[in-house]
Amino acid sequence: MEASFRPVSFLFLAFLFLPNFLFFFFCAGLSELRCIDTERQALLSFKQHLIDPSNRLSSWTAHGDCCLWEGVVCHNLTAHVHQLHLRSFYPVWDASMSSEQFDAEFEAYRRSRFGGKLNPSLLDLKHLNYFDLSFNNFNSTAIPSFLGLMKSLTHLNLSNAGFVGLIPHQLGNLSSLRFLNLESYEAYGLYVNNLEWLSGLTLLQHLDMSWVNLSKASDWVQVTNTLSSLLDLQLSYCQLRPFIPPTPTVNSSSLLTLDLSGNNFENTLIISRIFGLCNLVSLDLSYNHFQGPIPVDLQNMTSLSHLDLSRNNFNSSIPNWLYSLSRLEFLNLGGNNLQGTISSAIGNLTSAVSIVIDLPSNRLNQEVSKILEILSRLYRLETLGLRHARLSGHLTDVLGKFKKLVRISLRNNSISGPLPVSLSNLSSWTYLDFSYNQFNGTIPQSFGQLSKLEILFIGSNMLKGVVSEVHFSNLTSLKYLSAFGNQLTLKASQNWVPPFQLENLYLQSWNLGPKFPPWLCSQRCMQYLDISYTQISDMAPPSFWNLSSQFYYLNLSHNLIHGEIPKSPLILSAFAIDLSSNHFKGPLPCISSNVYLLDLSNNSFSRSISHFFCFKVNEPKIIVHLNLGKNLLSGIIPDCLMN
Ligand SMILES: *[C@@H]1O[C@H](CO)[C@@H](O)[C@H](O)[C@H]1NC(C)=O
Ligand SMILES: *[C@@H]1O[C@H](CO)[C@@H](O)[C@H](O)[C@H]1NC(C)=O
Ligand SMILES: *[C@@H]1O[C@H](CO)[C@@H](O)[C@H](O)[C@H]1NC(C)=O
Ligand SMILES: *[C@@H]1O[C@H](CO)[C@@H](O)[C@H](O)[C@H]1NC(C)=O
Ligand SMILES: *[C@@H]1O[C@H](CO)[C@@H](O)[C@H](O)[C@H]1NC(C)=O
Ligand SMILES: *[C@@H]1O[C@H](CO)[C@@H](O)[C@H](O)[C@H]1NC(C)=O
Ligand SMILES: *[C@@H]1O[C@H](CO)[C@@H](O)[C@H](O)[C@H]1NC(C)=O
Ligand SMILES: *[C@@H]1O[C@H](CO)[C@@H](O)[C@H](O)[C@H]1NC(C)=O
Ligand SMILES: *[C@@H]1O[C@H](CO)[C@@H](O)[C@H](O)[C@H]1NC(C)=O
Ligand SMILES: *[C@@H]1O[C@H](CO)[C@@H](O)[C@H](O)[C@H]1NC(C)=O
Ligand SMILES: *[C@@H]1O[C@H](CO)[C@@H](O)[C@H](O)[C@H]1NC(C)=O
Repeated sequence: MEASFRPVSFLFLAFLFLPNFLFFFFCAGLSELRCIDTERQALLSFKQHLIDPSNRLSSWTAHGDCCLWEGVVCHNLTAHVHQLHLRSFYPVWDASMSSEQFDAEFEAYRRSRFGGKLNPSLLDLKHLNYFDLSFNNFNSTAIPSFLGLMKSLTHLNLSNAGFVGLIPHQLGNLSSLRFLNLESYEAYGLYVNNLEWLSGLTLLQHLDMSWVNLSKASDWVQVTNTLSSLLDLQLSYCQLRPFIPPTPTVNSSSLLTLDLSGNNFENTLIISRIFGLCNLVSLDLSYNHFQGPIPVDLQNMTSLSHLDLSRNNFNSSIPNWLYSLSRLEFLNLGGNNLQGTISSAIGNLTSAVSIVIDLPSNRLNQEVSKILEILSRLYRLETLGLRHARLSGHLTDVLGKFKKLVRISLRNNSISGPLPVSLSNLSSWTYLDFSYNQFNGTIPQSFGQLSKLEILFIGSNMLKGVVSEVHFSNLTSLKYLSAFGNQLTLKASQNWVPPFQLENLYLQSWNLGPKFPPWLCSQRCMQYLDISYTQISDMAPPSFWNLSSQFYYLNLSHNLIHGEIPKSPLILSAFAIDLSSNHFKGPLPCISSNVYLLDLSNNSFSRSISHFFCFKVNEPKIIVHLNLGKNLLSGIIPDCLMN
């Protein structure tokens, strides 16, 4: 009985618990895949020399499984340490963030950075291929040359890690490297004497040395040319000199992305001589000193989708062949000295998503609506800038014909007539710049429906009439409003609460008076405010002065604002403050050490000036322009003035 019972029961039980049985088996199998002891020791020694102020590596403990540690990635079959992710996270500025929020995140970032020394124990990680140390604080130490012995590396990211000094040429021994990032915002802390060592990196695909001082690397063209795997080369702000090789060394045809912005190049010969760039998809030559015509060599780069030639001294007309680059999505010709007119061939840029063109040397008037009519056929276009181009005529309703356009700048032309009433799909526009034109008439009430609009420039036109709450009814996203130099009157009720939180507001020469606009006090993010010459003859309420610590620029001049500036707890702290030509009275306000410009002239400030000059006398002041003239001040000039 017994003998026959057991097998049955065993089979039965095994069947019943089969899932658990398998689970147990596999878990046991996996948990044996713990990290390799020498590698754990290597990481622990590495940790010992690292400064980790916010204890991010608390999981790195003596007896743990290092494959489970923060930032460590092991191979799933061999358990060798393959990747070390030790970057710190620089906060990304986001438009919805207040500056306090950003400051707080920045402070958290600063405190989370690793520092200290890199221990060569890392060399025991024989299978490490990915090493990211970016955005840390290896404060002013050199990149250790032993990194050149970590032969297994395919990715090395030392971007903004705080290293300074000569980049060790031993890095050229990392012959498996595909990604190398040495970008460094820290004011040219890193430099090289030459780039010969790079030629050992035959598999390199992505190289970023932006902001590294390469002024001595006269071989940069030759060397980068020999890197036959290179796809992406970022050498912006490298102090590069145009060492133009004697013959064209057309070779590096693998290159897809090239960024040489910010390098003071003048001669366009460099472009034709350097690379066999026919496959290039993205070329950035902005912020150099290129002169003369737009180089014809670009004509053969038919794969280009991103071309940035902005901020140079190109002074030709725009060549028609540029418009035959049919894959071009992003074109920036802003900030040059280009001349001539915009040809109707621009309608051939059918891939265009963003076009920015300045034509400051334009001597010909061109009809704005004709150009826009052509451009409206570019159905992918989202951003359009046609600035300083002497475009004239009326806008009529042509903006309504664009399909996807959400950002437009027609700044500094000669466009007249009314502002456009019909903006197709009103809720999509985010950026409108009509400033420095001759628009006349009133502001259309339809502007009040631009619920995504963040930036509106209509300053320096000939607009007239009354602006009411309706004009702002749905401008919930507005952050930047510049409308100075028009004859506009704002009529809003005393208890109006605007739907927006502005950061910048320029309403010089509007009529905002006679009452001080109470709605200004609701703007808790305002940093730049100019309401000079706005016919206010009232006291500024205390709640307005409560905002004052957030200002960077504050101009209330040439009004009839009266009363005292509250003494406590107020300290004026904007970078530039102009309260001149008002009727302020009472004692001078105290100012913080970060005020650069202060004009309190032509008011009725009275009493002694000692407290003004002697306030926090030991803090170094940066003030450069100070005008206290035309007031009723008295008493002696104190010695504190010397500070
Ligand atoms: C190990 O990882 C590789 C890719 O990272 C993946 O393709 C593979 O399926 C994984 N193997 C196991 C057993 O998880
Ligand atoms: C290097 O790190 C920076 C910042 O952490 C990141 O933006 C970049 O993509 C990384 N580059 C590579 C090649 O991994
Ligand atoms: C590393 O590179 C240097 C020169 O950059 C060279 O002298 C040295 O022999 C290389 N070492 C190895 C192990 O390849
Ligand atoms: C870059 O290096 C050169 C040569 O060493 C030096 O003269 C120059 O001052 C450096 N530039 C900066 C901005 O440090
Ligand atoms: C690129 O240059 C190298 C030597 O510098 C040469 O061996 C190679 O053939 C060249 N490639 C092309 C496509 O010209
Ligand atoms: C463009 O600039 C170059 C160099 O500054 C100058 O020689 C040339 O006359 C200019 N051309 C035009 C059309 O202004
Ligand atoms: C452009 O390419 C053609 C042949 O495809 C060639 O004849 C011409 O010289 C090239 N132009 C420039 C400026 O490189
Ligand atoms: C624009 O395209 C038309 C039609 O494809 C073509 O005839 C014309 O030559 C092109 N213009 C330019 C400047 O490429
Ligand atoms: C407007 O453009 C002209 C050149 O066309 C330039 O001289 C002037 O400075 C520009 N004005 C503004 C306000 O940008
Ligand atoms: C304001 O915008 C919202 C969302 O875009 C929309 O539903 C509403 O009708 C708009 N109101 C006015 C008065 O335009
Ligand atoms: C001084 O301020 C008054 C208004 O308070 C104004 O009328 C006058 O023009 C100002 N003087 C100067 C020189 O700005």
